[in-house]
Amino acid sequence: GYGHDLGVTTLGPVTETAQTERSLILVKPDGFRRGLTGEVIRRIEAKGYTLAALAVVTPTREQLAAHYAEHEGKPFYEPLLEFMSSGPVAAVVIEGQECIKGFRSLAGATKPTEAAPGTIRGDLGRKWAGTVDENIVHGSDSPESAAREIATREPAARSGRSRSPPVPSGPSGALHTGGACGAVWWCVVSKPGHALGCCM
Ligand code: RTP
Ligand code: MG
Repeated sequence: GYGHDLGVTTLGPVTETAQTERSLILVKPDGFRRGLTGEVIRRIEAKGYTLAALAVVTPTREQLAAHYAEHEGKPFYEPLLEFMSSGPVAAVVIEGQECIKGFRSLAGATKPTEAAPGTIRGDLGRKWAGTVDENIVHGSDSPESAAREIATREPAARSGRSRSPPVPSGPSGALHTGGACGAVWWCVVSKPGHALGCCM
């Protein structure tokens, strides 16, 4: 991955209020290949959300298996992993009140053919040959999935893995990002010395 070039950054607590959400957005390989990363970020910023972290990475199958665990066994699961590991993605952590729901609204319906004009998928996407819907962006769909995508586990419990992020330090709520996995990772400190974290 490219993440190691980005180093490790401590972003600190969210900048608005305790209710401020963070969501993980991916510009998927189709959107990245088509040069739509800037257009997606433009819409996020125009909506008023803050960019908290940004990186270009090629997700590994292992990372995608964790990310899309809810879809394991579905007919589109294998094509989805194939598609999502087919090239670089832009991974963006955004921040703002109700930004999880708000970005889903900006993204539009899953199928680009059905997504309303005005949305990212409706304006920029279409149906292509193949099993999987290539739909330009991913966004966490609830605080619970955001937490699952952060892969709810202590970094210490992952010490058997060679590509674990380092155990972060900092105050509760601190968001850390960096490239220690060879890809971007982000995690939130749950209490000093403990964190919910994952590699993306
Ligand atoms: P995402 O998780 O990527 O943000 O998208 P989503 O919530 O709108 O859709 P989800 O149901 O979670 O499905 C994940 C991704 O799998 C592909 N898909 N293809 N051909 C199909 O029936 C099909 N169903 C899902 C899409 O890329 C979808 O975004
Ligand atoms: Mg989803």
